Amino acid sequence: MAKAKTVFFCKECGFESAKWLGQCPGCHAWNSFVEEPSASGKKGRSGGSVAAAGYGSREPMPLRQVSTDAEERIHTGIREFDRVLGGGIVKGSLVLVGGDPGIGKSTLLLQMCREVNKPADSSRKVLYISGEESLQQIKLRADRLGEFSSEVFLLAETNLELIEQTLEREKPDIVVIDSIQTVYREEVGAAPGSVSQVREATASLLQLAKGKEITIFIVGHVTKEGTVAGPRMLEHMVDTVLYFEGDSSAVYRILRAVKNRFGSTNEIGVFEMAGNGLLEVQNPSKYMLEGKPEDEPGSVVTPVMEGTRPILVEVQALVCQTNFNMPRRTAVGVDYNRVNLLMAVMEKRMGISLAGCDAYVNVAGGMKVSEPGIDLAIVLALLSSYKNRALDSKTIVFGEVGLTGEIRSISMTAQRIKEAEKMGYQTCILPRSRAARLTAEQTRTSLRLLEVGSIRELAEVL
Ligand code: TYD
Ligand code: MG
Repeated sequence: MAKAKTVFFCKECGFESAKWLGQCPGCHAWNSFVEEPSASGKKGRSGGSVAAAGYGSREPMPLRQVSTDAEERIHTGIREFDRVLGGGIVKGSLVLVGGDPGIGKSTLLLQMCREVNKPADSSRKVLYISGEESLQQIKLRADRLGEFSSEVFLLAETNLELIEQTLEREKPDIVVIDSIQTVYREEVGAAPGSVSQVREATASLLQLAKGKEITIFIVGHVTKEGTVAGPRMLEHMVDTVLYFEGDSSAVYRILRAVKNRFGSTNEIGVFEMAGNGLLEVQNPSKYMLEGKPEDEPGSVVTPVMEGTRPILVEVQALVCQTNFNMPRRTAVGVDYNRVNLLMAVMEKRMGISLAGCDAYVNVAGGMKVSEPGIDLAIVLALLSSYKNRALDSKTIVFGEVGLTGEIRSISMTAQRIKEAEKMGYQTCILPRSRAARLTAEQTRTSLRLLEVGSIRELAEVL
């Protein structure tokens, strides 16, 4: 008897192969191939004409004559969300919202459904399709968020065929699919959430979004490795990829654009999870510095850039005598190896002995910082704790520290200084090389600028 035809897919990138492979030739991931029934006869779907799907005319058109006023934005009423989308929802776009389970994806999108119809003059038909929760469960969540307009509809459905029919019939303006991993098409034969199902569902939704001018948000769960489960392919197909992230322990959440065909990927939105849904955090610096101790050794404030947005965060360090042969070193929120490197630089270039000390470094508030601009703050926090001398509480610092102990300039100095000024800081310790190049406009600040060229000069600062 003939065996049902199967193909192998790479779980990571969607690479297709007739036989099993140990390593994916596409993305070089090991052991990522899974066997799935081949979706015969379905090939033509994703290869359909884009003109037919509403992307444009079938004839070549002079670039200059392409009109752009079709790009109409719908404001969601959640400013932080609009910002990340690049100024609102674009009609007919397909947006993927990824994130860990429980981070608040469903809450955010349900809240968006509510807010988008807030203005009295707007009546946009919104359809929330859930394959994960029952209508009652969604209603319970909705009750926590508040009153909903009569234009918001719910549907519990996972069959792609039926979802398509509903969209064609109801013609909503905005649709939420929660989540793409639960949607399946019967003919495909693989289990929901498998590579071929997710691919098929996304391709079909893309056609609907473009063809019918429906904005579709799809929720995608994230794998252990931190990418949207299923093929990477999904990210190529959609217009916008947003990640909703944050520590489960910290209450704040960051919405980040990883890809955006209609805006910059530099924007972030900051939210706080409260009892009645997600609240916008319009002043993240204030939020991050809440509860900061005054005049305590080991605490230093530094402005870090999240996209184009400066946020002040507090770096804390604790240096104490070790009780073990091997001193303990811990870093939370910053790279562990970077902290070790900076401590080595301090030993060598400042002549202080840290070999017999335990050191703990933490970024308060649960932020994770990967930019080198935080180096100087780490060094100063360690030094401050080591010497048990507090840094003036109205001072911020930033700068990258090199291996010879030199302090190097970093980008977007002006924005960082401006944020510090806004938050009422009075002194700024910054790299010398940069200060020399600051324009007159940028130096017109009420902050006292203290320039340092190497970490040897830091001792005087404390
Ligand atoms: P949820 O939006 O279901 O997350 P996801 O869809 O990403 O899996 O819910 C996130 C968590 O937020 C859940 O554990 C309950 C909590 N929550 C609140 O704290 N306040 C609220 O108002 C709501 C609706 C949820
Ligand atoms: Mg959910």
